[in-house]
Amino acid sequence: MVLKRGLAVVALCLATATSVVSAESQSENREATMKKIGGAMGALAAIAKGEKPYDAEVVKTSLGTIGETIKVFPTYFPVGSENDDKGASPKIWENKADFEAKAAKLSADAGELLAQLPADQAAVGAALQTLGKDCSGCHESYRIKK
Ligand code: HEC
Repeated sequence: MVLKRGLAVVALCLATATSVVSAESQSENREATMKKIGGAMGALAAIAKGEKPYDAEVVKTSLGTIGETIKVFPTYFPVGSENDDKGASPKIWENKADFEAKAAKLSADAGELLAQLPADQAAVGAALQTLGKDCSGCHESYRIKK
């Protein structure tokens, strides 16, 4: 009897723990995805600023990473995860279609740039400007600075 009750308590704790973990993991997914995109932008910026020599492979990989990673980003905002973290504005859930369109725009722009592949430092700088507008276009509406 005591054992049974003990097990029930354990089961209850596990259930609670799972729900907490899944809530936290949306936040982690969001941040990890954005950090990956931020890292790729950083690699492009280093070339644009002349801190790193132009490297077609780095440009290719970075644009590919941005274009693919932003596609999964909107899936980390399911209904009910509104309070998972403080960085995501509640407006995301009110304007889900617009939020998704902004993600799709960044993906499309990165894909287009990848197809033309910026061929020197100046072209990488121009690409960064295009992409940067997409980042701030979404952040201004949907990101809350923590
Ligand atoms: C579709 C909307 C959208 C686009 C496009 C977008 N972001 Fe974000 N970004 C967000 C949101 C929402 C957050 C807040 C996420 C959170 O705190 O959970 C965020 C957070 C971040 C963060 C902070 C992550 C952290 O550790 O908390 C970085 C860095 C970032 N974005 C970089 C970028 C860059 C660089 C681009 C463009 C190449 C970009 N983002 C494009 C919506 C977007």
